[in-house]
Amino acid sequence: MRRIKTAILISGRGTNMNALIEASQSRHYPAQIDLVISNRPEALGLITAQKHGVTALALDHTDFKSRRAFEKALNTVLREANIELICCAGFMRVLTPWFVTQWEGHMINIHPSLLPKYKGLHTHKRALEAGDSEHGCSVHWVTSELDSGGVILQDTIKIKPDDTEDSLATRLLEKELSLYPQALKLVAQDLLNQDQERDYSFTA
Ligand code: GAR
Repeated sequence: MRRIKTAILISGRGTNMNALIEASQSRHYPAQIDLVISNRPEALGLITAQKHGVTALALDHTDFKSRRAFEKALNTVLREANIELICCAGFMRVLTPWFVTQWEGHMINIHPSLLPKYKGLHTHKRALEAGDSEHGCSVHWVTSELDSGGVILQDTIKIKPDDTEDSLATRLLEKELSLYPQALKLVAQDLLNQDQERDYSFTA
Protein backbone atom coordinates (compact mmCIF):
# COMPACT_ATOMS: atom_id res chain seq x y z
CA MET A 1 0.00 0.00 0.00
CA ARG A 2 1.34 3.44 -0.92
CA ARG A 3 1.59 5.84 2.02
CA ILE A 4 1.90 9.63 2.04
CA LYS A 5 5.47 10.79 2.56
CA THR A 6 5.25 13.08 5.57
CA ALA A 7 7.63 15.43 7.40
CA ILE A 8 7.10 16.81 10.90
CA LEU A 9 8.37 20.27 11.88
CA ILE A 10 9.12 20.74 15.57
CA SER A 11 10.83 23.22 17.90
CA GLY A 12 10.81 21.41 21.25
CA ARG A 13 9.97 18.25 23.18
CA GLY A 14 8.03 16.62 20.34
CA THR A 15 5.23 14.89 22.23
CA ASN A 16 2.81 15.31 19.33
CA MET A 17 5.54 14.26 16.90
CA ASN A 18 6.01 11.07 18.92
CA ALA A 19 2.27 10.32 18.73
CA LEU A 20 2.34 10.75 14.95
CA ILE A 21 5.39 8.51 14.57
CA GLU A 22 3.82 5.81 16.77
CA ALA A 23 0.54 5.94 14.83
CA SER A 24 2.45 5.63 11.55
CA GLN A 25 4.09 2.42 12.76
CA SER A 26 0.86 0.57 12.02
CA ARG A 27 1.07 -0.96 8.52
CA HIS A 28 -2.37 0.29 7.56
CA TYR A 29 -1.82 3.92 8.55
CA PRO A 30 -1.92 6.03 5.33
CA ALA A 31 1.08 8.25 6.20
CA GLN A 32 4.73 7.39 6.77
CA ILE A 33 7.01 9.74 8.68
CA ASP A 34 10.15 10.16 6.58
CA LEU A 35 11.68 13.20 8.18
CA VAL A 36 11.65 15.36 11.32
CA ILE A 37 13.12 18.86 11.16
CA SER A 38 13.64 21.22 14.09
CA ASN A 39 14.54 24.88 13.82
CA ARG A 40 16.16 24.50 17.26
CA PRO A 41 19.17 22.14 17.45
CA GLU A 42 18.58 21.47 21.17
CA ALA A 43 15.00 20.21 20.65
CA LEU A 44 14.45 16.98 22.60
CA GLY A 45 12.13 15.75 19.86
CA LEU A 46 15.14 15.22 17.57
CA ILE A 47 16.49 12.54 19.92
CA THR A 48 13.06 10.89 20.22
CA ALA A 49 12.70 10.77 16.43
CA GLN A 50 16.16 9.21 16.06
CA LYS A 51 15.26 6.56 18.66
CA HIS A 52 12.36 5.60 16.39
CA GLY A 53 14.76 5.37 13.45
CA VAL A 54 13.33 8.46 11.75
CA THR A 55 15.77 10.84 10.02
CA ALA A 56 15.95 13.94 12.22
CA LEU A 57 17.66 17.17 11.19
CA ALA A 58 18.29 20.50 12.86
CA LEU A 59 18.00 23.50 10.60
CA ASP A 60 18.89 26.31 12.98
CA HIS A 61 17.05 29.45 11.86
CA THR A 62 19.68 31.63 13.56
CA ASP A 63 22.28 30.34 11.05
CA PHE A 64 20.44 32.14 8.24
CA LYS A 65 20.63 35.80 7.26
CA SER A 66 16.91 36.15 6.72
CA ARG A 67 13.60 34.40 7.28
CA ARG A 68 13.42 33.85 3.52
CA ALA A 69 16.88 32.21 3.41
CA PHE A 70 15.87 29.84 6.22
CA GLU A 71 12.62 28.92 4.49
CA LYS A 72 14.37 28.38 1.14
CA ALA A 73 16.74 25.91 2.80
CA LEU A 74 13.83 24.22 4.58
CA ASN A 75 11.91 23.95 1.32
CA THR A 76 14.91 22.43 -0.46
CA VAL A 77 15.38 19.75 2.22
CA LEU A 78 11.67 18.86 2.08
CA ARG A 79 11.57 18.72 -1.74
CA GLU A 80 14.76 16.66 -1.94
CA ALA A 81 13.14 14.11 0.40
CA ASN A 82 10.04 14.06 -1.89
CA ILE A 83 7.81 15.06 1.02
CA GLU A 84 4.10 15.32 0.17
CA LEU A 85 2.68 16.52 3.48
CA ILE A 86 4.02 18.62 6.37
CA CYS A 87 2.76 18.33 9.95
CA CYS A 88 3.71 21.24 12.19
CA ALA A 89 3.84 19.92 15.76
CA GLY A 90 4.92 22.56 18.24
CA PHE A 91 6.85 24.33 15.46
CA MET A 92 7.12 27.79 16.97
CA ARG A 93 8.31 29.76 13.96
CA VAL A 94 5.87 31.77 11.88
CA LEU A 95 6.08 30.78 8.21
CA THR A 96 5.86 33.45 5.51
CA PRO A 97 3.20 33.46 2.77
CA TRP A 98 5.98 32.49 0.33
CA PHE A 99 6.60 29.18 2.13
CA VAL A 100 2.95 28.51 2.92
CA THR A 101 1.95 29.00 -0.71
CA GLN A 102 4.44 26.32 -1.79
CA TRP A 103 2.68 23.85 0.53
CA GLU A 104 -0.94 24.99 0.43
CA GLY A 105 -3.23 21.97 0.86
CA HIS A 106 -0.22 19.94 2.01
CA MET A 107 0.53 21.42 5.45
CA ILE A 108 -1.36 21.01 8.73
CA ASN A 109 -0.81 22.20 12.31
CA ILE A 110 -2.03 21.44 15.82
CA HIS A 111 -3.01 24.42 17.94
CA PRO A 112 -3.96 24.36 21.65
CA SER A 113 -7.27 26.22 21.44
CA LEU A 114 -10.73 25.88 19.98
CA LEU A 115 -10.01 27.89 16.84
CA PRO A 116 -11.04 30.48 15.79
CA LYS A 117 -10.65 31.37 19.49
CA TYR A 118 -7.18 32.28 20.77
CA LYS A 119 -4.93 32.27 17.73
CA GLY A 120 -1.25 32.77 18.60
CA LEU A 121 0.35 32.29 22.00
CA HIS A 122 -0.75 31.80 25.66
CA THR A 123 -3.97 30.03 24.78
CA HIS A 124 -4.50 28.38 28.21
CA LYS A 125 -4.03 31.67 30.04
CA ARG A 126 -6.43 33.44 27.69
CA ALA A 127 -9.11 30.74 28.09
CA LEU A 128 -8.82 31.01 31.91
CA GLU A 129 -8.88 34.82 31.90
CA ALA A 130 -11.98 34.83 29.70
CA GLY A 131 -13.78 32.59 32.22
CA ASP A 132 -14.47 29.96 29.54
CA SER A 133 -16.15 26.74 30.66
CA GLU A 134 -14.41 24.69 28.00
CA HIS A 135 -11.11 24.66 26.18
CA GLY A 136 -9.73 22.50 23.42
CA CYS A 137 -7.35 21.79 20.60
CA SER A 138 -7.63 22.02 16.83
CA VAL A 139 -5.85 20.47 13.89
CA HIS A 140 -6.14 22.85 10.95
CA TRP A 141 -4.79 23.61 7.49
CA VAL A 142 -1.90 26.05 7.43
CA THR A 143 -2.61 29.18 5.39
CA SER A 144 -0.83 32.52 5.10
CA GLU A 145 -2.77 33.97 8.03
CA LEU A 146 -1.63 32.64 11.41
CA ASP A 147 -3.86 29.84 12.85
CA SER A 148 -6.66 30.76 10.45
CA GLY A 149 -6.90 27.84 8.01
CA GLY A 150 -9.88 25.47 7.92
CA VAL A 151 -10.31 23.25 10.95
CA ILE A 152 -9.91 19.51 10.26
CA LEU A 153 -10.69 18.13 13.75
CA GLN A 154 -11.18 19.52 17.25
CA ASP A 155 -11.53 18.07 20.73
CA THR A 156 -12.62 19.74 23.96
CA ILE A 157 -12.03 19.55 27.71
CA LYS A 158 -14.09 21.08 30.53
CA ILE A 159 -12.38 23.83 32.50
CA LYS A 160 -12.58 23.17 36.28
CA PRO A 161 -12.71 25.98 38.88
CA ASP A 162 -9.24 25.11 40.23
CA ASP A 163 -7.54 24.77 36.83
CA THR A 164 -4.24 26.55 36.20
CA GLU A 165 -2.39 27.09 32.93
CA ASP A 166 -0.30 24.01 33.72
CA SER A 167 -3.20 21.73 34.59
CA LEU A 168 -5.05 22.78 31.46
CA ALA A 169 -1.96 22.25 29.30
CA THR A 170 -1.44 18.76 30.75
CA ARG A 171 -5.05 17.66 30.28
CA LEU A 172 -5.26 19.18 26.82
CA LEU A 173 -2.05 17.50 25.70
CA GLU A 174 -3.67 14.08 26.27
CA LYS A 175 -6.42 15.10 23.83
CA GLU A 176 -3.87 16.45 21.33
CA LEU A 177 -2.00 13.17 21.30
CA SER A 178 -5.05 11.28 20.11
CA LEU A 179 -6.47 14.06 17.89
CA TYR A 180 -3.40 14.67 15.73
CA PRO A 181 -2.94 11.05 14.58
CA GLN A 182 -6.66 10.90 13.69
CA ALA A 183 -6.40 14.12 11.68
CA LEU A 184 -3.24 13.04 9.86
CA LYS A 185 -4.98 9.76 8.99
CA LEU A 186 -7.92 11.65 7.44
CA VAL A 187 -5.72 14.06 5.48
CA ALA A 188 -3.32 11.38 4.21
CA GLN A 189 -6.22 9.13 3.18
CA ASP A 190 -7.75 12.04 1.31
CA LEU A 191 -4.48 12.73 -0.53
CA LEU A 192 -4.28 9.04 -1.49
CA ASN A 193 -7.87 9.17 -2.78
CA GLN A 194 -7.07 12.27 -4.86
CA ASP A 195 -4.16 10.32 -6.35
CA GLN A 196 -6.43 7.49 -7.37
CA GLU A 197 -9.01 9.84 -8.87
CA ARG A 198 -6.21 11.39 -10.98
CA ASP A 199 -5.11 7.92 -12.12
CA TYR A 200 -8.66 6.96 -13.13
CA SER A 201 -9.23 10.15 -15.09
CA PHE A 202 -5.92 9.58 -16.90
CA THR A 203 -6.87 6.05 -18.00
CA ALA A 204 -10.54 6.85 -18.76
C1 GAR B 1 1.50 21.54 21.86
O1 GAR B 1 0.66 21.78 22.94
C2 GAR B 1 0.98 22.23 20.62
O2 GAR B 1 -0.42 22.27 20.55
C3 GAR B 1 1.53 23.62 20.80
O3 GAR B 1 2.81 23.44 21.31
C4 GAR B 1 2.85 22.23 22.06
C5 GAR B 1 3.99 21.40 21.53
O4 GAR B 1 4.24 20.33 22.36
N1 GAR B 1 1.55 24.33 19.56
C6 GAR B 1 1.40 25.64 19.46
O5 GAR B 1 1.24 26.36 20.41
C7 GAR B 1 1.46 26.16 18.04
N2 GAR B 1 1.01 27.49 17.98
P1 GAR B 1 5.05 19.08 21.84
O6 GAR B 1 6.36 19.61 21.22
O7 GAR B 1 5.33 18.26 23.06
O8 GAR B 1 4.20 18.36 20.84
